Amino acid sequence: MNKSTAPGDAGAVSSVAAGASHGDAHVTVRNLTKVYRTRRGDHVALDDVSLDIGAGEFVVLLGPSGCGKTTLLRCIAGLEEPDSGEIVVDGQVVFSSEKGIFIPPERRRLNMVFQSYALWPHFTVAENVAYPLRNSGVGKADALRRASETLDLVGLGGREGAYPGQLSGGQQQRVALARTIVAGDGLVLFDEPLSNLDAKVRDRLRIELLSLQDRIGFSALYVTHDQTEALALADRIGVMDFGRFEQLGPPDEIYDRPASRYVADFVGTANAIDGTVAALDAVVTVRTTFGDIRGMAAADGLAVGDAVSVVIRPEHCHIDPHAAAGIPGEINRLQGEVERSLYLGAVTEYVVRTGSETLICSASGGRRIPAGEGQEVCFAAARTRIYAAEEES
Ligand SMILES: Nc1ncnc2c1ncn2[C@@H]1O[C@H](COP(=O)(O)OP(=O)(O)O)[C@@H](O)[C@H]1O
Ligand SMILES: [Mg+2]
Repeated sequence: MNKSTAPGDAGAVSSVAAGASHGDAHVTVRNLTKVYRTRRGDHVALDDVSLDIGAGEFVVLLGPSGCGKTTLLRCIAGLEEPDSGEIVVDGQVVFSSEKGIFIPPERRRLNMVFQSYALWPHFTVAENVAYPLRNSGVGKADALRRASETLDLVGLGGREGAYPGQLSGGQQQRVALARTIVAGDGLVLFDEPLSNLDAKVRDRLRIELLSLQDRIGFSALYVTHDQTEALALADRIGVMDFGRFEQLGPPDEIYDRPASRYVADFVGTANAIDGTVAALDAVVTVRTTFGDIRGMAAADGLAVGDAVSVVIRPEHCHIDPHAAAGIPGEINRLQGEVERSLYLGAVTEYVVRTGSETLICSASGGRRIPAGEGQEVCFAAARTRIYAAEEES
């Protein structure tokens, strides 16, 4: 397998096929499986994964450490060889187990940015950015001119002659970004590129990244374990666990209609109450130790008597009796008492005790409800989701 040429990071690939057409990037991953064979046994890092990335689309892979995000990126880049499946980049089959095809990384039309961004310390900023162009045969003057234009785009115009060591972490990250996008509008693979930066810089770079994408129009596959980052950046989010997609969809769908308890817990905060299905209709009735709760089935296939979890987001739980009047449709009411309130600026979070459990309720604006006062938690049946109980593993 081909190894990369960049220093510092064994994985950095920045390649442009000379003369390649710069049409719409489009990636198709079909039934990809990758098994790492180690002394301690086989480890399935990707388990039959399929994914399409449209031209100009920004797809985020979200999931906990070890779920296979980096492995999927490295397979697409050509830095790992999958065991089976197929990968098509821009109409070119770059990997197919069936057809015995494996195209090396430097001949795939894509670019990759890593968490450790591996700039050449003895090259100037402009030389770093020009490198992939020079590597693919663009003349020096032309490459430096395009590097300079790209540095303007990332807000580093005028710093062409500086060395990486003279720049801040955030600026170095922008140089790495410029180096990745200098080649044009292909696919850009990002592996947690902002995770080493402090929160303020990260917030700003996120916004810049989106406006760059607007201007340049590259497609992106972006790995993060940060749900806020995923929600902010993605056209679609793929939530991964154990080498599989748990759910793949637009951010609002992932957040409002999580396909599983796992997704509900991983993206945002979720209150969960255990119970059993008492009646099935358009609305499901669940018997819990707090009384019956009514909600929407998250998937087909529930039956009366099934063990389930009732899941409700904190911002949909109301403890202010006046707020409850504004909830449309059928309302669930649980007796409870505010045990603690946490003022967080934009929102206040209330810890509400209902019997042996506590629920988190959050409210923005309005009156701050003192501990001991809230007597009832209200939430709309339409906002309440019922999931089949997951087997303990
Ligand atoms: N070169 C390797 N050899 C053996 N196991 C590996 C190797 N690379 C990754 N893994 C394992 O594969 C799984 C997925 O890893 P990775 O794709 O890096 O996860 P993520 O990026 O989501 O944190 C992990 O359990 C990891 O330990
Ligand atoms: Mg990783």
